[in-house]
Amino acid sequence: MRCKVLQQKVLRESHRGIEPSLTFRPTGKMKLTLPAVFLVCIGWCFSLSSSFSVIDTETPVIFKGNKADQFGYRVIQTRSNRAPWLIVSAPLSGNRTGSLFRCSYDTEKCQPLILHHNYTPGISLGFSLAADEVTDSKIVACGPTWERRCGEFDYLNGVCYIMNNFDQNLKVVRPAFQECVSGVDAVILYDDSGSINDAAFQTMQTFFLNLINSVNDLDVQFAVVQYSSDPFLIFDFTTYNNTGGQIKNTLHGAQRIRGNTFTPTAIRFVVEKVFIPERGMRPDSKKLLIVLTDGISNDQRSTFEEAKQAADAKGIIRYAIGVGQNFVEGQDELHKIASSARNIFSVKSFDALHSLQEELKEKIFAIEGTSGASPGSSFQLELSQGGFSTLLTAEHLVTGAVGAYGWSGGLEKGFLAQPPQTKFLNDSTAHSEDSYLGK
Ligand SMILES: *[C@@H]1O[C@H](CO)[C@@H](O)[C@H](O)[C@H]1NC(C)=O
Ligand SMILES: *[C@@H]1O[C@H](CO)[C@@H](O)[C@H](O)[C@H]1NC(C)=O
Ligand SMILES: *[C@@H]1O[C@H](CO)[C@@H](O)[C@H](O)[C@H]1NC(C)=O
Repeated sequence: MRCKVLQQKVLRESHRGIEPSLTFRPTGKMKLTLPAVFLVCIGWCFSLSSSFSVIDTETPVIFKGNKADQFGYRVIQTRSNRAPWLIVSAPLSGNRTGSLFRCSYDTEKCQPLILHHNYTPGISLGFSLAADEVTDSKIVACGPTWERRCGEFDYLNGVCYIMNNFDQNLKVVRPAFQECVSGVDAVILYDDSGSINDAAFQTMQTFFLNLINSVNDLDVQFAVVQYSSDPFLIFDFTTYNNTGGQIKNTLHGAQRIRGNTFTPTAIRFVVEKVFIPERGMRPDSKKLLIVLTDGISNDQRSTFEEAKQAADAKGIIRYAIGVGQNFVEGQDELHKIASSARNIFSVKSFDALHSLQEELKEKIFAIEGTSGASPGSSFQLELSQGGFSTLLTAEHLVTGAVGAYGWSGGLEKGFLAQPPQTKFLNDSTAHSEDSYLGK
């Protein structure tokens, strides 16, 4: 890991004094692992609001906690069953998991607030803390250093817990969350119907082998399915992976069946029987299906509509390649197969297939490269640190996401009602890289 400190900013100037904070960001395009933000003063210096009547300024109640845990990093007041409580956070405790305490003025003692049996380690819980001042009993605690591996990268998001009256019925929110999508799992589905002669069949196999080899450097796994009246799996992702992509012999060894052209049935087979974890599909990958056919489907068992629905439900991007006279005249069938009009190709003959190779390769490159934090593309929410700051009202949770969009930052406004909705607010007009909105 290589990181360099670019910014050392005073993030907040409060009545407690200045809290300097370090924000690390990675250089250029390498992998990221960010031990984020903080190094904060205060041991147990409290901000006690003057409106809190239990406080005696002459002989204040002093709560003590572990300094290394940053006990007292955040302090808020709340009420539970009408009794006043002070909620105190210690975001560095438990190896940066963070913890919360509820402290009572009557007993002058703090006790840990046990949140949840399996809450996320390493998030620095209590880095931000807020109470809903209207209902008085609802609080939110966030940890913005939730590190997750996604493919080659480490993402840095946040987790917030909303609770009412210290109940165990927590609401867990992941503000400005970036879903992990990494690598491509691609299935090649090709026609083996009787109308394709052996020479053409070999030309087609060579075309696919060349295509597979041309994207060898990328994080792409292939599986190949041959179809006519029935689909037939030639190899799956696991085999591809285990052979290190050396699948030439397996492909050439495939038996020809030469039946009808039952395209929808074959697509459904791929969706239901090949795009599954048992076949080596990765849950976080982008899914790609390339269908090659030379004829119009005469499927009795399934419709294109059914095939499309099944594929869409799994988010499978589909390309259609039509070969021969059938597709020179009309491309209706290809439109039914492909997931968009841009994903359609047609060539006059099998010999002309090689002309598509470069373009298909580029498409696969483009799909593989859209994993957000990949080299060359800019950061969106991968390092958002949602929950860096927070605000709670009866209907909304507002969270700062300082790392969003190349550290220009932003705020996520979440509606707490069902169904939950969120809205991202930022300054999209200004030149605002590194402005850390939401701190
Ligand atoms: C603390 O966490 C880091 C990474 O999150 C881990 O490598 C280390 O072993 C942990 N230390 C303890 C004492 O659990
Ligand atoms: C592919 O192989 C690599 C190691 O060679 C392994 O780490 C990875 O989990 C494999 N992927 C699948 C989907 O089996
Ligand atoms: C603001 O947010 C939008 C997404 O909602 C994003 O596309 C845009 O890049 C952001 N602008 C800045 C300046 O960060």
